[in-house]
Amino acid sequence: MTGIPRHAPRTASHAVEPPPGTGLPYFEDPSPGRGVLPPRAWYAGSDAARLSLDGTWRFRLSERADAEDAAFARPDFDDSSWAELRVPGHWVLAGHGAPAYTNTAYPFPVDPPRVPDENPTGDHRCRFDLPADWPGGPAVLHFGGVESCARVWLNGQELGHFKGSRLPHEFAVGQLLRPRGNVLAVRVHQWSSGSYLEDQDQWWLPGIFRGVSLHSRPDGAAVDHAVHAGFDHLTGRGTLCVTSEPGGRVTVPALGLDLATGERATVPVLPWTAETPVLYDGELTVPGERIPLRIGFRTVRVEDGLLKVNGRRILLRGVNRHEFHPRDGRAVGPGTMRRDLLLMKRHNINAVRTSHYPPHPAFLELCDELGLWVVDECDLETHGFGRQEWRGNPVDDPRWEPALLDRARRMVERDKNHPSIILWSLGNECGTGRGLSAMASWMRRRDPSRPLHYEGDRSCADTDVYSLMYAEHAEVERIGRRAEEPLADAALDARRRELPFLLCEYAHAMGNGPGGLSEYQRLFETYRRCQGGFVWEWIDHGLRRRTPQGEVWYAYGGDFGEELHDGNFVCDGLVFPDRVPSPGLAELKKVVEPVRIEAGGEGPGGAARTVRIRNLQDFADLSALVFRWTYEVAGEEYGAGTLAVPEVTAGAETEVPLPAVPDAGRGGGEAWWTVRAVLADDTAWAAAGHEVAWGQLPAGIRRAPVVPSGTAAVVRRADGGPLVLGPGAFDAVTGRLVSLGGSALTGPQLDVWRAPTDNDEAAAWQAGPRPATEWRRAGLDRVRHRVDAVDAGRDTLVVRTRVAPAGVDFALRTVYRWTARAGLLRLEVAVEPVGDWPVPLPRLGVRMAVCGSLGLARWFGGGPGEGYPDTRAACRVGRWELPVDALQTPYVRPQENGARPDVRWATLTRADGTGLRIDGEPDFFFTARRWSDAELTAARHTTDLTPGELLWLHLDHAQHGIGSRSCGPGVLPQHRLEAAPAGFAFTFSTVR
Ligand code: GAL
Repeated sequence: MTGIPRHAPRTASHAVEPPPGTGLPYFEDPSPGRGVLPPRAWYAGSDAARLSLDGTWRFRLSERADAEDAAFARPDFDDSSWAELRVPGHWVLAGHGAPAYTNTAYPFPVDPPRVPDENPTGDHRCRFDLPADWPGGPAVLHFGGVESCARVWLNGQELGHFKGSRLPHEFAVGQLLRPRGNVLAVRVHQWSSGSYLEDQDQWWLPGIFRGVSLHSRPDGAAVDHAVHAGFDHLTGRGTLCVTSEPGGRVTVPALGLDLATGERATVPVLPWTAETPVLYDGELTVPGERIPLRIGFRTVRVEDGLLKVNGRRILLRGVNRHEFHPRDGRAVGPGTMRRDLLLMKRHNINAVRTSHYPPHPAFLELCDELGLWVVDECDLETHGFGRQEWRGNPVDDPRWEPALLDRARRMVERDKNHPSIILWSLGNECGTGRGLSAMASWMRRRDPSRPLHYEGDRSCADTDVYSLMYAEHAEVERIGRRAEEPLADAALDARRRELPFLLCEYAHAMGNGPGGLSEYQRLFETYRRCQGGFVWEWIDHGLRRRTPQGEVWYAYGGDFGEELHDGNFVCDGLVFPDRVPSPGLAELKKVVEPVRIEAGGEGPGGAARTVRIRNLQDFADLSALVFRWTYEVAGEEYGAGTLAVPEVTAGAETEVPLPAVPDAGRGGGEAWWTVRAVLADDTAWAAAGHEVAWGQLPAGIRRAPVVPSGTAAVVRRADGGPLVLGPGAFDAVTGRLVSLGGSALTGPQLDVWRAPTDNDEAAAWQAGPRPATEWRRAGLDRVRHRVDAVDAGRDTLVVRTRVAPAGVDFALRTVYRWTARAGLLRLEVAVEPVGDWPVPLPRLGVRMAVCGSLGLARWFGGGPGEGYPDTRAACRVGRWELPVDALQTPYVRPQENGARPDVRWATLTRADGTGLRIDGEPDFFFTARRWSDAELTAARHTTDLTPGELLWLHLDHAQHGIGSRSCGPGVLPQHRLEAAPAGFAFTFSTVR
């Protein structure tokens, strides 16, 4: 049962006015505003009338806050020469001014609370009539979100002004309304004292970006209401108490409840969890209004050093979500919100941190409905002060305390009735200070039912969970053992050591990656204290643009001519700006799957005989899933069926026998069982048959390596021209393959360079090695190949080379040994590092170029998506087919992408089915693209890449891992590619 006091303190929300005589204009004084009503719970609607004022408004942009007088607020002002603007929206995305991106730096001089003279100011006017059935009487004007400061007039009367961009603000307006011809005037300043509190890493996007509406508040309507619905897991009963002002009655038909507000009822209920989001429909009736309720019973506690819901430890498989749309910025509509959540649920994500501000409230309703754990974060970040040792940090300056408390209140009061919210977060990256403590004390008093989160204070003095961002695996492990480095203060240390741990940000999903997810998940599943975390972040904030030819590309920092910006650091999501999942999301889905399917007991040759099924959920059994198996040989299905899986409760496991090997599938190649857990029935977030988890189990039949048999072909010299060996022709001087089966190509040559990923580049502030910088310094982007010998034996062509960049004495001695039998051309490559290699290699393999008409790729190995050493959990062994163009991953800033791991063989064919086949030994990474790595390295946007006439193939024996160094740990030791002796082979043949 929660302990929220009956009513929120009803004092005016802005009791503390700025010290008189500061002389600062309202947009610069640090107070939150004036004239605004106290905050209240948001709900989608009631029987009290509402009128949306969203639509096309009139708009005028000025360069300064004081460029125009306020005459525009007069109803009779002539705005016919003004532009039209869609509300909600951001004017900078509607052709007025431009967006700007900085990560931590304020885009203006830091001199709080002052802002620059260049302060884009948007005057907005909206004319509206009341509907014929508008009831009259008291009403409020509601603003869902305005960035960053608004001053408001209705029918010429000034109502007040406010700051707090992603928070609701309301004014009492009933007495000012007229049936027809109302004029609402809103002046919005891009910069205000509030901007100092809103230094989140995102685009600066001024405007009225959430809805504006008029709400009738008849006499006796609820001023505010609070739903307290706890769950006692020992008795299976829920306790409901709804408070409101004025009081009334509460009914919940499904529970047979009809009680007075303030009265408690305890009845058997099904609890709300993210896995089982049971909501009971109810109604609150007060004299002036009937409010629909959606009640979820759950209790959140920190006990035994763990974060528990309904008595159980939960594991957060979370993401950080900013509100973002590539055209509309933070003006995100309901369809987009639902799409985000459906995508999350379908990718096994069970938690959202609303980084770094309360989202549109409709989003939280959807979280209640679909089932996600939510960390609701306050609209507060002062990160830019960190650049000057936190001097002047507003969270440690009493002048700002009213603003901080106002923000805390607006979040908690608006969102308090959502069962999905399990933690309140004070904000993000504000350093430490008294203001944060004041917020925490207020929140604890107001809502003791939810623990507090804040990452920025390592002492955890004001929080109930220990939270870090981007901690290395080793540190997470120490924390898991409760053996982390102690704090200087013994009492605080002892307290923190008893707290549960989560990573509020980890696995920075910028560009190709993040790597190392599996290793984190292992820690979360090993140490109960480590309760998971939130990947940074959900979506790339690329703004949609088109070339003159109409091709879409996505803009990032610097693309709008910003003087100060942070480039593509704003594109670090699991989905691309258009919400197409990136390979990182596929990887996350596999790594965090709530059911693990593994080989059980082994039979002869390592063949699985049973399958072990572990239910990693915290509450639900497996009855929502059916387990389908297939038996595949060389990627072809020879049998399929459904496994009988007994009931498995949350946290438990079972072992089930596999069926007999289908007769048709005996012999004939590499065999696998694939077991997939799919939804048995339609759910609110996916249809029956949707795959939740899968596992592949070896069936014990290993593949036979392709070693060409038959008589060895003899090396011939064609009329003093090329050397010929089987289907291959070689340049006699360089020893390079120049054609295969009569088709010209640029033969395989050792390659170690890759177009650096964002994780290879690593963030500028990262201490320690930044791989791409080291690689460039070592010259790996400009290696030269010296041919030392072309030895043509009877049936062997051996080419000896030394591969090295200018200016250094380390090298890779590389020997290519060619043989041919029965139309198969085999290349064995032996690589021997010489000298002291100071850096790991980006990749180790060969690169070749073939005719661009070979546009269809088929392969047997890892797929269907890309995979690198530490990002290949989602790749399963199978036979896959994709056009070369579809092998590319369109990272917003082009970079290495598209490798398919563990490939046994691959073919590239023309439209008529003829082409080239490559068998690898051992398995290899296969990459094909229509541009070279040099072009890929140079490109800044996807539209910089134009397909050439050739296909560039990379056949890599190995790749360096991906890691997460764009903002986090680098590649783990086991995934580094050190220069070391290596041998690998490929067999080339033609497909006819
Ligand atoms: C964190 C911050 C996020 C984001 C991320 C890097 O420090 O909280 O807002 O900037 O780093 O992308």
